[in-house]
Amino acid sequence: MNSKTLLITGGAGFIGSALIRHLIENTGYRVVNLDKLTYAGNLESLEPVSGDERYVFEKVDICDGAEVRRVFREHQPSAIMHLAAESHVDRSIDGPADFIETNVTGTTVLLEAARAYWNDLAEGEKQQFRFHHISTDEVYGSLGPEGMFTESSPYQPNSPYSASKASSDHMVRAWHETYGLPVLITNCSNNYGPYQFPEKLVPLIILNALAGKPLPIYGRGDQIRDWLYVDDHARALLRVLEQGRIGETYNIGGHNEKTNLEVVKTLCGILDEKRPDHPQGISRYEELITHVADRPGHDQRYAIDADKIERELGWVPEETFETGMVKTVDWYLENDNWCQRVLDGSYRGERLGVIG
Ligand SMILES: NC(=O)c1ccc[n+]([C@@H]2O[C@H](COP(=O)([O-])OP(=O)(O)OC[C@H]3O[C@@H](n4cnc5c(N)ncnc54)[C@H](O)[C@@H]3O)[C@@H](O)[C@H]2O)c1
Repeated sequence: MNSKTLLITGGAGFIGSALIRHLIENTGYRVVNLDKLTYAGNLESLEPVSGDERYVFEKVDICDGAEVRRVFREHQPSAIMHLAAESHVDRSIDGPADFIETNVTGTTVLLEAARAYWNDLAEGEKQQFRFHHISTDEVYGSLGPEGMFTESSPYQPNSPYSASKASSDHMVRAWHETYGLPVLITNCSNNYGPYQFPEKLVPLIILNALAGKPLPIYGRGDQIRDWLYVDDHARALLRVLEQGRIGETYNIGGHNEKTNLEVVKTLCGILDEKRPDHPQGISRYEELITHVADRPGHDQRYAIDADKIERELGWVPEETFETGMVKTVDWYLENDNWCQRVLDGSYRGERLGVIG
């Protein structure tokens, strides 16, 4: 066990909270969670670990340079894992400005604060320090029916969200090349699992199905995503932080390519078994599927080649698509209160990201 301090940005979000629960429950790290608490941030997601003396919360906006510098000074982290972001593609279509502000400007503010802090560290600590930037496979754009994204795939982002994440990846890379900051970058596929804000596909479908509401499928539902259980992502992030080579990118994926329609039908099938008392008027949850207008600029297919992280660092996912989906449905069935509380009035499951 070690007592190093990790600074996690965006720790009240879906993946950040899974990472912090994993760190507190399974390692000796101290954790500082720096989060602004936007609509997507919920401290309740940290309730299982927030009483631990190794956990500290700092309500800070990553765009606020003075506050970010204070957090570095006060907590003296040995690494930063940067997850804070505006993360929902549909919202980025309605309002790109927040995405540029947080994802691009905010990342740059963090890089500058980290660089100043790192420059002043003693030589040994300086060598150990890492800036780990957490990003998405969406920066690579869309694939045809064949092929996979590797770490050397060209960047071709298509949505304001993916363009902002691509920009932030380039900033991080440039701070390594220009200033020598010891960075790591990971690009991961679609995550699912407990504590995901109910605007994303998996929780939205579960909650709508239980309420007997339509299950919206964009276009034909034939877009393919590569699905990874969030705890597998958390384990991969820690592996990269501890063993990844400085300046390298690692792709993280689950080898679970599924169409959106397959994902929705899988969830409906699990719910048919676990909640056979269907809402009025239907005998199978699938009957609620409703095709709606496609998302503008909707990428057709993402698939990750995760060979590098397996070969170099020995990471492979522990969950299959089937086991992860069952765990996820079970969690939402048992945590209705969490869902009701995060739906605090600002979001009611309505369609976002439609132009015009
Ligand atoms: N969800 C996925 O499938 C997925 C896949 C690959 C990569 N990623 C990346 O992983 C990271 C986390 O994703 P997520 O799904 O957990 O996102 P999320 O939307 O659930 O959480 C984002 C968190 O960042 C915080 N935040 C937003 N703006 C902030 C600011 N200006 N200052 C401080 N905190 C701020 C929010 O309060 C929230 O707690 C993001 O960088 C995202 O791009 C996500």
